[in-house]
Amino acid sequence: MLLGVNIDHIATLRQARLTAYPDPIIAAEHCLRAGAYSITAHLREDRRHMQDRDMERLAAMDLHLNMEMAARAEMIEIACRLKPQAICLVPEKREELTTEGGLDVAGQIPAMRDAVARLSDAGCRVSMFIDPTTAQIDASVAIGAPVVELHTGHYANLTGAARDAECGIIAQAATYAASVGLEVHAGHGLTLENTPAMLNIPELQVLNIGHAIVADAVFKGMEQSVRDFLRCMQR
Ligand code: PXP
Repeated sequence: MLLGVNIDHIATLRQARLTAYPDPIIAAEHCLRAGAYSITAHLREDRRHMQDRDMERLAAMDLHLNMEMAARAEMIEIACRLKPQAICLVPEKREELTTEGGLDVAGQIPAMRDAVARLSDAGCRVSMFIDPTTAQIDASVAIGAPVVELHTGHYANLTGAARDAECGIIAQAATYAASVGLEVHAGHGLTLENTPAMLNIPELQVLNIGHAIVADAVFKGMEQSVRDFLRCMQR
């Protein structure tokens, strides 16, 4: 199973002060050195974290870029110009803290088919970020998407037996999706604690993880950072 690292929240930290640092491009280099398979970045309509310039710089790097975006005209235009290797189509609401729920592919077949066709023509491999249901998997096949990313956010928010049950639902969905010819990814809300159960689902090829990696990195780097500042303050 491969790891895609979502580096949006490096940009969140930068945008909080509108500084030049921390630079998502440097974060991407760290992730690749550590063994990440791909770098994921979400260009949102409100540009709350990643900016257009970030996407241009990431697309120019020698890496497997997975661009998350809503299936809107502006984003499709940008993606067709930048031609990232992969696109993940996600639902987007201005007021949400993060992507809530999967994309309703079944409820918007013509628009999704058109978006997938345009992005595929530009050379991008398109995945649909969906809830783990048969209806959304069938709809993803119907519109010609080669990949689905199963939403693990609900699983991540549960505990105990309810979480085990949701893990089973994700496993069943992964098996079904693979049986109808889709490449299967998963992500959202995954942490060091809840990721291991995903490894029992053989059809999952890529896990996309962001927030917990960035949060973990803060504490893994905090001591060194304070030492560096103390050294800098020594006369
Ligand atoms: N996959 C998709 C489609 C997402 O939208 C996100 C969040 O941007 C992730 C994976 C990563 O989620 P998290 O940041 O919770 O690890």
